[in-house]
Amino acid sequence: MADLIPTRDTDANVIRDELIAGLTAPQAMASPKYLYDALGSKLFEAICELPEYYPTRTEAAIFTRHGADIAESVGSGVTLIDLGAGNCAKAARLFPLLSPAQYVPIDISADFLHDAVQQLRQRFPQIGMLPLGMDFSATLALPNEVSRSRRLFFYPGSSIGNFHPDEALAFLRRLRAADGELLIGIDLVKDHAVLDAAYDDALGVTAGFNLNLLNHLNRLLGADFKLREWRHRGFFNPALSRIEMHLEARHALTVRWQGGERRFAEGERIHTENSYKYTPESFAALLGEAGYRLAQSWTDEAGWFMVCHARRG
Ligand code: AVI
Repeated sequence: MADLIPTRDTDANVIRDELIAGLTAPQAMASPKYLYDALGSKLFEAICELPEYYPTRTEAAIFTRHGADIAESVGSGVTLIDLGAGNCAKAARLFPLLSPAQYVPIDISADFLHDAVQQLRQRFPQIGMLPLGMDFSATLALPNEVSRSRRLFFYPGSSIGNFHPDEALAFLRRLRAADGELLIGIDLVKDHAVLDAAYDDALGVTAGFNLNLLNHLNRLLGADFKLREWRHRGFFNPALSRIEMHLEARHALTVRWQGGERRFAEGERIHTENSYKYTPESFAALLGEAGYRLAQSWTDEAGWFMVCHARRG
């Protein structure tokens, strides 16, 4: 298996420098990847179960309702490359429809991936499986064992929304350069109250998910964030067509870490995540710029979420 993850030493220094640069910037920020420590990943799974968080179930319903159509558009026997595969459950539901010749799940968490693939191999012994532990968001260096025949990149869950549109374009261009078609889930612009509630739920799970980032920073930096001094903010910014998540200081405070500190005024924020929402037209335009053309797309009845099959243009 290709292990493209940097060594632990490099990792620790790079992470530390990146975090300190973000925390000391005029507008403090922390990359959304730090939301996903072990507890954060569990909290994200809980978010997917919330009544307010519609994307997961809406996308699943589209795959259930239009599965046959999707299979017809994509064709069988593809090389299915699953980006951010996690427990591989979303792709596994497609196996009976697509009968892929090879399945290549990619995730930064290699151990988790291997466990999931072990179980899948028993259920689908006819499919060749090649799990890869790598961070595909920066580069996409696929090993030679990944078949070049009819590659289909599977990127569900509207994860592309967590990239700035310029990064999303660069990412799609990398997929295009790696000779792949695309099956991708996109969250669409909708009533702002629906969007606001999805990222600020009544139970406070999304608040816990966001605040837990501070626990993660405390461990990574030796910082002294006190979670009770911060509040979650999650809201739709219509001017930029994106959900923004922030952590807001409840009162003036100072955060210290090994070798540094930052003072925050009351109400000052750390920007932790963006989740861009597209219209069918704006996403088709992005695909076009990346050298793809939309083959077919499917939405739910309310038009809240879209699944697209794109071919190289
Ligand atoms: C992973 N990603 C697509 C989620 C989203 O909706 O942007 C992350 C998330 N953040 C808060 N709730 C869910």
